[in-house]
Formats: sequence, structure tokens, C-alpha cells
Amino acid sequence: MATILAIETSCDETSVAIVKNRQVLSNIVRSQVKIHSFYGGVVPEVASRQHLEIINQAIAQAFIEANLDWNQIDGVASTCAPGLVGALLVGITAAKTLAIINNKPFIGVHHLEGHIYASYLTTPELEPPFLCLLVSGGHTSLIYVKDCGKYKTLGKTRDDAAGEAFDKVARMLKLGYPGGPIIDKLATKGDKSAFSLPEGKVSLPEGGYHPYDSSFSGLKTAVLRLVQKLETEGKNLVVENIAASFQETVAKSLTKRAIACALDNGLNTITVGGGVAANSGLRQHLSQAAATHNLRVLFPPLKFCTDNAAMIGCAAADHLNQGHISALDLGASSRMAIKDVMQLYGC
Ligand code: KG4
Ligand code: ZN
Repeated sequence: MATILAIETSCDETSVAIVKNRQVLSNIVRSQVKIHSFYGGVVPEVASRQHLEIINQAIAQAFIEANLDWNQIDGVASTCAPGLVGALLVGITAAKTLAIINNKPFIGVHHLEGHIYASYLTTPELEPPFLCLLVSGGHTSLIYVKDCGKYKTLGKTRDDAAGEAFDKVARMLKLGYPGGPIIDKLATKGDKSAFSLPEGKVSLPEGGYHPYDSSFSGLKTAVLRLVQKLETEGKNLVVENIAASFQETVAKSLTKRAIACALDNGLNTITVGGGVAANSGLRQHLSQAAATHNLRVLFPPLKFCTDNAAMIGCAAADHLNQGHISALDLGASSRMAIKDVMQLYGC
């Protein structure tokens, strides 16, 4: 049993949690979304400064809510990659400093492995192998989860991430940032069959299409053309209908790929992680399709889908239990493939 103090500062959420294996004792999340929405997206330098301003307060709060002290902590973790380097460095530096002062091991965590571990927080009995559909602002991947630290990416986006597509379409429709939750809400009031939009397919050199890879840039351009056409024709822009049609296309595309990938690889459980896991269209399509094919699908609650330190702590606890610890000179990386996660532990 490992009790971990975990820090997540890879993007625009400052989060600190205390986790005992798969049990969350506290999970403080301070979102910077209001500040960044002013600029229409995350400004890296602003994110770093905000992390710096609130990190100490969030650490103190995590201890208060968990009602623990340093004697009960076995290790200190922080997200090391991928993410905004300046933002990551705030969390890493805080975690390493606390590890040194309190004589605890330091565990660097891959952000995507954290998103995978979010499913264990609410389904502690879950065991690999399973398929994780990871859909966030920066990633869209289908990951074969073999074991702690052992992952294979079977499908990915060739251009925009799903969340990025939601954000860009929302910007086109002048709806605000982040776009995902706004489009999701509008879509409930719209007609999803109002417009027929193209599902992005990835061609294979030998002919046909990649069964698990996706592409959202064509869909995004199709929405832009549609908006321009409606404006030129002087027609009223019914944003609810555009939002519903766009969301339906994304949800169907992700569902088709996730189901095919699980079936082809003999996996009977699909977990979903990342901010787009909150999307009601995706939840509905994937749950229905999974039931049809006798597959289990797990959607963590929203607070564990979006960036949070509890998922980072959960991954770190598993690594620490297996003796995986990181060197104190481990730095931040803006990019790192999930297959390379064991590099964080010198393996
Ligand atoms: O996982 P996350 O919090 O941060 C990253 O690691 O990227 O995901 C944020 C993304 C944003 O692009 C946001 O628009 C999207 O998740 N998102 C949604 C919904 N809620 C958040 N997308 C679609 N529907 C939602 N309900
Ligand atoms: Zn994330």
C-alpha cells in the first residue's frame, strides 16, 4: 500500500492530491480556465505563473482535506511529460523539493498514464488488459493497456485531437473557450441530422482506410465552409444544429474505432479518459455500441476525466509498489510517447 502526494501542472489546472493506492484521500483542483478564456486558449507563460502562485496553497489544502501529515506519505509524484514545459517544471520542482526535504522517493508520471489510471479510482477492481480511449485537448489515442508501465498505441489522430476540434469549432462559431462543454450543451437543443458532415478517414498506402486512426481537420474545415456558406446566403446560423451535427460526427467516429479496436484485439473492456470523455454524445454512442457487442465500457466521473492530480497519484502508487522511482535530475518533456513511460524510472 503506497500513499502518494501527487502534483499535476501540465496545462491549465493546478492540482494536488493525496492518494492511497486507488483510494482518493484529497484532490484539490484549481482551474485557470477563466484567465485563459480571455485569450481564447491556454497561454503557456500565464499558466506557469498561475501554477506558481497557487501550488503551495493547494499542497497545504490537500494535507488538510486528507487529514494526514508527512509521516504518512510514502512518495511524492508529479507529472513530467507530456505538457507545457514551463508549467510542468513548477510541479516537478515543487515535488522534488518536498521529496528531498522529507526524505521520500520522487516518482515522475506520464500524463497519459495518469488519464488511464483515472478509471481505477472509481473501479478499483479493474485489471488489465483493457483498451483505453483517451480523448483530451491534446490527445486522441486508443491504447492497449497490458500492465503498469506497459502500453501500446493502436490508434491515434493524424492531426487535431478531438478536444482541440471541439475548441476550434466553438471558436469558429464564436462560442467561447473551452469549446467542448459549450458545444455539448448546445447540441442537446439541436438537430443532429441537420447537416451531413464528413467523418475523417485515414487512407492506407495499400488502399482502404486505417481502422483505428482518426482525422478531425477535414471535419473542422467542413464546418468552416458550412458557416461561410450559410453566412453568404444570408441564412440564419442555427448554432445548436451545427453543434449537434458536429458532435454526432465526432462521437460516431470515435465509437466506431474504439469498438473495432477492442473486438479485433480481444479486449472486452473499454475505459475512456480525458476531457472529451465528458461528452454526452460520445457517452451515448459508445455505451450503446458496447452493449450491442457485449463489451464493458467505463466512463470515470467528470472530475477524474479532466486533468487532476488524483489520477497521477494513482499511477505513481502502482509504480512505487513495483519499486519504480525516478532520479532527482529527471526533467520536464513537452513530448513523450506512452510506450516510453518506463524511461521515467531509468528502465
Ligand atoms: O483532459 P483535459 O482536461 O486536458 C487535456 O489534457 O487536454 O481535456 C480538455 C479538453 C478541451 O479540449 C475541452 O474542450 C474538452 O476536453 N471537453 C469536452 C467536454 N468537456 C471538456 N469536449 C467535448 N464535450 C465535453 N463535454
Ligand atoms: Zn490531460
